[in-house]
Amino acid sequence: MHLAKRIVNVAPSATLAISNLTKQMKAAGEDVIDLSIGQPDFPTPKPIAEAAKAAIDSGAASYYLPTTGLPALREAISTRIAAQNHVHYDPSQIVVTTGAKFALYSLFQVLLDPGDDVLIPVPYWVSYVEMVRLASATPRLVNSSAQNFKVSVDDLEAARTPHTRAIVLNSPQNPTGAMYTRTELTQIGNWALKHDILVVADEIYRDLVYNGANFTSMVAIDPAISANTVLIGGVSKSYAMTGWRIGYAAGPAKLMKAMGTLLGHSTGNATAAAQYAAIEAFGGSQAPVETMRQAFEQRLNLIYPLIQQIPGFELLGKPSGAFYLFANVKRAAQLTNFGSVDDLLAAILKDAGVALVPGRAFGLPDYARLSYAASVTDLTEAAKRLSAYIHNN
Ligand SMILES: Cc1ncc(COP(=O)(O)O)c(C=O)c1O
Repeated sequence: MHLAKRIVNVAPSATLAISNLTKQMKAAGEDVIDLSIGQPDFPTPKPIAEAAKAAIDSGAASYYLPTTGLPALREAISTRIAAQNHVHYDPSQIVVTTGAKFALYSLFQVLLDPGDDVLIPVPYWVSYVEMVRLASATPRLVNSSAQNFKVSVDDLEAARTPHTRAIVLNSPQNPTGAMYTRTELTQIGNWALKHDILVVADEIYRDLVYNGANFTSMVAIDPAISANTVLIGGVSKSYAMTGWRIGYAAGPAKLMKAMGTLLGHSTGNATAAAQYAAIEAFGGSQAPVETMRQAFEQRLNLIYPLIQQIPGFELLGKPSGAFYLFANVKRAAQLTNFGSVDDLLAAILKDAGVALVPGRAFGLPDYARLSYAASVTDLTEAAKRLSAYIHNN
């Protein structure tokens, strides 16, 4: 069977692969603690789910919607962005998509030509690289010289080419939880402006920030920078709605219009019932977001020192946001006589029953990502198992 060249070289999502393997092990009755998945472990707050039910019961969710999203939802997103970032987007500058994932995918489709490149800081969320490739462009990986998982203007300048069309900046960052400061964003935003490079600001974790850290959005810096930025957001992480598949892009009208054309020939509108739910998420009480944020903060404060104490697990610093720890475990692999971190993590899954994602998936093969979107009981037990495994092997 012939497969298009476009897909043959695309690596399947490593995070989905490990989480599927973990699910299979669990289904077979094995005692596995899954710290591999990138989703809140809470159910969607009731009022949000009720809004979807009401839309189904009334019949409102039965029909095609405007391709770029319900006007009331785009309005609610605009209001939420304005409340958080003090920037106004006309609803025509907002496109609702099937998850933030498809916002990014369709943005790259309408932005990139063969020969273009996109700067992607390392470590990166798994899908950026493949999405850029699927748009026939070239991902250019940018290593941070500062050892804090954040790229500087100097790092970016060293990687820039005449064909650089965009940079993807994810803050707070998956997989590290690192967050860019206002000063850093200002420098990067101005550098991008100067070189006519679009900033793709993936701020999907923006509501999940801990221990008093201050989040600044790229679009909140100044009007020139926000006009040169596409903001990516969604309901998955803030509202525990990964299954509903609602995300958005907000940015220059010309780009958003082109995305609408692409959606018109691909997904059409994102699922209607999910859009009604998202109106309640963005527009309703934000109390559930704060409740969940506090739970993640408590878990971070619990798990961080426990992981720090495990021999061979090295953490750069306490993360500011998202819900991941990204540990350098090369020394742990050496201590346990494994040839590679991948082998160590495979053995930890099989023999200690803890699922972590190999750092290779994020561009740093010496690392492992641990999601603390899990119960306190599971996190405590997982830390115990990891520690015992390294001590006993
Ligand atoms: C950094 C980042 N961006 C975007 C997404 C996509 O989110 P969704 O498609 O669920 O809205 C994820 C999900 O894991 C993510 O971690």
